[in-house]
Order: sequence, then C-alpha cells, then structure tokens
Amino acid sequence: MPKIAVLPGDGIGKEIIPEALKVLKAVLAGSRYRFDFQEFLIGGTAIDEVETALPSDTLRACKDADAILLGSVGGPKWDTLPAIKRPELGALLPLRKELNLYANIRPVKVFPSLISASTLKEEIVKNVDLVVFRELTGGLYFGDKGRNDNPPAAYDVLIYSEEEIRRILELAFQASQGRRKKLCSVDKANVLESSRFWREIATDVAKQYPEVELTHLYVDNAAMQLVRYPEQFDVIVTENMFGDILTDLASMLSGSIGMLSSASMCGKKGLFEPAHGSAPDIAGQNKANPLATILSAAMMLRYTFDLHAEADRIERAVIKVLDQGYRTADLVKPGEKAVGTKEMGDAVVAAL
Ligand code: IPM
Ligand code: MG
Repeated sequence: MPKIAVLPGDGIGKEIIPEALKVLKAVLAGSRYRFDFQEFLIGGTAIDEVETALPSDTLRACKDADAILLGSVGGPKWDTLPAIKRPELGALLPLRKELNLYANIRPVKVFPSLISASTLKEEIVKNVDLVVFRELTGGLYFGDKGRNDNPPAAYDVLIYSEEEIRRILELAFQASQGRRKKLCSVDKANVLESSRFWREIATDVAKQYPEVELTHLYVDNAAMQLVRYPEQFDVIVTENMFGDILTDLASMLSGSIGMLSSASMCGKKGLFEPAHGSAPDIAGQNKANPLATILSAAMMLRYTFDLHAEADRIERAVIKVLDQGYRTADLVKPGEKAVGTKEMGDAVVAAL
C-alpha cells in the first residue's frame, strides 16, 4: 500500500490537514485505491515535544514514504531560538534538501467565482492560468552563510551548479510542452553572475524544445509584469529566492494566498503543502482556509500517483463550493458571512 507521511506541523497546519485528509479519504473511498496515512511531528510542535524541529523518525518516515502531506511550520513561540533550530531552517529546509525536492511547482489559476476577491481588477486577472517552477534546494537558501566579527558583517552565498539549473529547466520545458508552450525564465542577469550562468543554460536547454518559446525577464520586471498583465505568462521558471517572492505575489492574482497549492518534487516523489504559512494570528480559531491544502492533496494524487480522475474530482468540488458561495474569512467581502475551516472541508466533501 502506498505510504503517505502526514505532517500537520504548527499553527493552522493542525486545522487544515484534517480537512485535506477528510477530502482525500472521501475521494479514495469511491475508488479501489487505499493509502497508508501515518502522522509525524515536525516544526515547533516537535521542538516542544522532542526538542528538535525535524525528529529522526519523521525524516526516516518521509524518506520511506511515497508522498508527504505537510500543513505548515513556524510561529512566534519559536522565533527567539537560534535560527538554525527554528522550524523553517531546522525542519522545512533540511527536509527539502534531504529528500532532494528540487522542483517546487505552484500553479496560479483564477477561480471565476473568486475574481472579485482579488485585489486586482477583474479584467486583469480573469484569464490568469500560470504555473511557477521554483528551484528549491539551491541558491541563497542553501549557500554558505555566516557572520564576521571585525568589522561586523553577515553573508549568504548565492551559488548554483550547472546540474541544479539544468534539471529544473528541463522540468519547466516539459511542463510547457503540455501547456501553451511559453516559458519565461526569470533572473537578474544584468547584475548577478549566477543569473548569467542560468540564462546561458536556459538558452542551451531550449535547443531540445524547439516548439517552446523561451523568453527571459529580469526579476524586478517580472514582478511588475505579474500585476500589469499576468495573462502573458504560461510557465515561469526561476531560482529559489526569486521564486519565493514571485509566488507570494502571484498568489494574490487568484484572490488569496489561502488558495495557493504547492508540490515539491523529485521524480514521482513529492511533498505537498499549501504555500501559505502557519498563520499564528488565526490559529486554533477554525478560521483558516483549507482549500490550498485540499488542492495540494489533489496535486499529490495527480503527480505522485497518476490518479488524474480523482484529482479532477477534488478540483471540481473546490470550484463548486466556491460557486455555491462558501467563503472562509480570507475570501469574504465586507458584509459577507465567512464559514469556518471545518465547514469548508465538509462542503468540499459534500460537493464530491
Ligand atoms: C515557502 C515559504 C518558505 C520558503 C519559508 C517558510 C522558509 O515561504 O515555502 O514559500 O521561503 O521557502
Ligand atoms: Mg514563500
């Protein structure tokens, strides 16, 4: 039986993961597929219980699993710990690195009934359908970092190997082939050497994909274009840090960061998580939007298990509940009534 490691983590992670599990179990009940779901500790919750953000049995289970479903990690309670022990640097990043999850895939698509939830004008966002391929195990996040004493200074090294750049570009080109065949590679080649290297490799990889139109944008321009005329984008590929920033920005095109799902892949194996954080301000109040996690679970069915019909069912159910008017607090307009996390999960199950 395929194994799924379930890591609720911190904050709203503990509330949104049960909703995603509810939806997964409902969808699988109607099929002949059975999964073995097992829960493990991660993040601040793991620090509190076993004094480390990434316990060794969690890491082992993740290595052993076919897929990992993660809620979110982090929170103010652990922000005063040394950086390396905190949930982000102590758990999430080592997990990505240890499992070699180098390809982070974040689709941004507008849900018609949420157009008015976007902070941008309807005519700007109505046709948005793009996906960002973010390199996830290299660059500034993983380069050498440290402090100097005299004079006081701090550094983070931005380094990329050819191999790291090539493999994420290959995946982005392949994804473009199955879409509108437009790939935009985002860099800062007017300033950074690593970006000039990235651009050379992108141009070289492009030779294998003559039917895909490759363009290059500087990251500052890409940020501007994403709010000016987002429809122009089909697939975007970029390095780790730029991808982090651009995907938060792009999430608002679809109404809320509470809608942005994410898959971090190495081959068929993947870690699936919402792109938002642990939202400590609303944690424990049944206010969080579970839809990004539910959509991440659909990505898991699609990418790791090739269960396309089941993934489609979940995605259609999400569209249906939105069309029916269900809105969590992040999606309501002034005067509208919000449903809670659990009610949203129940509505998706009912809509299946
Ligand atoms: C994300 C998050 C993480 C990142 C943080 C929590 C370390 O912002 O997945 O986008 O920067 O990668
Ligand atoms: Mg981010």
